[in-house]
Amino acid sequence: MIKHVVAFRFKDDVDDVARQSILDEVSAFPSHYPQMHNFTLGTNISSREQRMTHAFMIEFADEASLMEYLGSERHETFVRERWRPVIESQSIAALDVDGLPAGLEKELSVRRPRGPYGFAFARIAVPDLAASIDFYTYHVGLQLEGHDDTYAQLRANLSHHDIELVADPSLTEHHVETLAFTVESQEVLEDLRNRLVADGREIGELHPRTKAACLDGFSVQDPNGQMLEFVRDFHVYAEPPLVEWRPIDIVHPFLSTPHYQESLRFYCDVLGFLRSDVIVADGFGASTFLRCEDRYHHALALRQDTKYYVAHLAFQMKSLDHVMRGRTKAVYKKVPIPSDIVNHSASASIAFYMYVAQHGPRIELMDRHRVFTPEEHETHKERYMSADPRNIDVWRAAADDWERY
Ligand SMILES: [Fe+2]
Repeated sequence: MIKHVVAFRFKDDVDDVARQSILDEVSAFPSHYPQMHNFTLGTNISSREQRMTHAFMIEFADEASLMEYLGSERHETFVRERWRPVIESQSIAALDVDGLPAGLEKELSVRRPRGPYGFAFARIAVPDLAASIDFYTYHVGLQLEGHDDTYAQLRANLSHHDIELVADPSLTEHHVETLAFTVESQEVLEDLRNRLVADGREIGELHPRTKAACLDGFSVQDPNGQMLEFVRDFHVYAEPPLVEWRPIDIVHPFLSTPHYQESLRFYCDVLGFLRSDVIVADGFGASTFLRCEDRYHHALALRQDTKYYVAHLAFQMKSLDHVMRGRTKAVYKKVPIPSDIVNHSASASIAFYMYVAQHGPRIELMDRHRVFTPEEHETHKERYMSADPRNIDVWRAAADDWERY
């Protein structure tokens, strides 16, 4: 964003009527230039610096918008014929600062359908509930909340829960029953529901325990038959868990799918997920990273594969130190680490993965997952990267270094 600041002094012989006329014309600028935001104009009341009598400030999305205004016929005529004859001196600065002008973010976002806000939780059926509770508390750092003999909800931070375990002794390995996403308002929830209905999807009820932990929502199956839940005002706790070593968020599921193109169409074109980056491959390995309105680089990833499964669930830890503490716990308890410390190229996060089939998909503990700025979120164009191991983990040594996957 560009903040454009103009401080100026009227010539002493310019009377009040002429001054007001100029100030009125300057104040009318935003009505002629839609690229101007947050226009303010006032009298200089500083007791330390009185060379200037007035100043005005305007914000632009970028330098091109500023230049468009400065080079316009209306502006040049105004400066030549109205401004210079009455202004004694002026001082101008244009600052390039992070972010979008207040108000523009909303303006830009209404130009596209809103997607879900972010990933909320996974509901996972497990053969041994007590053993899985132990795994998620000791190895992931989650805190046990609501539970009985049939289910357990565990949370990382303020959200009601990040993992819900369901006891199913008939299983030998886990089964991911549901993936849930939050939605920021009733308006967006209704819009998502309408878009899904228009796509021929059957809308269902929420699971009773999900219903009890939010204000409204619905369920639907994706093209893989994966049950999804969308909720608004997912309940939160007033305080985080009173344990130091824990994640601060569950960030994304990573789905392997034989219905890759159809899944992309469903998540992007129907639900409004945005493409952040793409790994291009012919068949296995082709992946797309998709983001939601919470602006994480990816709140969901899809990879082309021969069968459908949830390949991993990723948790954001507080720091690299906390990732490494998680890793040493896994090593100490001999929990398998199918992919050790990696530095992800696309999202710039450092992570390792644990996997015990009875407890759930691979668990990724990571640090520094990229979060887009509001401006990047609205303007980012996805990158297309070849399926080279260095485009997945920058710490791979060469184009054929596929070990440790
Ligand atoms: Fe991941």
